[in-house]
Amino acid sequence: MSARPVIEFREVRYSYPGGAEALRGISFAVAQGEKVALLGPNGAGKSTLLLHTDGLLLPSAGEVVVDGMPVERKTLSEVRRRVGLVFQNPDDQLFMPTVEEDVAFGPLNMGLAPKEVERRIDSAIRAVGAIGLRKRSSMQLSGGQKRAVALATVLAMQPGILVLDEPTANLDGRTRAALVHILERLDCSCIIATHDIDMARRLCSRALVVDDGRVVADGPCAEVLARPDVAELLYL
Ligand SMILES: Nc1ncnc2c1ncn2[C@@H]1O[C@H](COP(=O)(O)OP(=O)(O)OP(=O)(O)O)[C@@H](O)[C@H]1O
Ligand SMILES: [Mg+2]
Repeated sequence: MSARPVIEFREVRYSYPGGAEALRGISFAVAQGEKVALLGPNGAGKSTLLLHTDGLLLPSAGEVVVDGMPVERKTLSEVRRRVGLVFQNPDDQLFMPTVEEDVAFGPLNMGLAPKEVERRIDSAIRAVGAIGLRKRSSMQLSGGQKRAVALATVLAMQPGILVLDEPTANLDGRTRAALVHILERLDCSCIIATHDIDMARRLCSRALVVDDGRVVADGPCAEVLARPDVAELLYL
């Protein structure tokens, strides 16, 4: 890899308080513009790994580095400007009275000028096809609509690194296809945890497979998915 990676995990370990070790020495690096699928069975550690990308969890051992900065308490606000994390459950992301206030929250927090905030809201809501939902209450949307709005809240911050946890879960075919299309056009670096192998193949040049807190495969998506051990692990 020639350029400095945009995000790097170095032997990251993590144990939940009072729980078993969920990450057992995870190492990988993502290059600028790369789209990486994070695959693995339920409980493998995908969400735990993603929560480390923007410092919502800090490693028990090892290190996460974003744009050359170690992720630690004093770098959190810088890290969160660069890494946009969309949670597995959209209810964890939406907390304002209306959709447009939810989408405005990040840009306002970044201290952007009102005109720029307005432009960001507009383009993010448009990107996820949610124009008609703008004045609605986030709490009263369907599961798929919430997912789209949760993505818009993060797109509005224009992160260089977009991290998505199961973005296509519970989406109907049409909404899913639209989402894949949005993600195809983004030129940021992405890490996408998913059980949606078809989306992984379409979107991601690379696949990282985790099992029981360890990386068991990392390489070009098609090659990784063709491996018999991966096919067995993922029930392909
Ligand atoms: N808040 C928590 N407290 C304690 N243990 C947890 C917590 N969250 C997850 N775990 C445990 O950590 C391990 C990894 O869970 P994680 O949610 O990262 O898996 P995942 O790969 O995202 O699974 P899924 O595909 O079901 O979303 C599992 O054994 C899980 O039980
Ligand atoms: Mg998960």
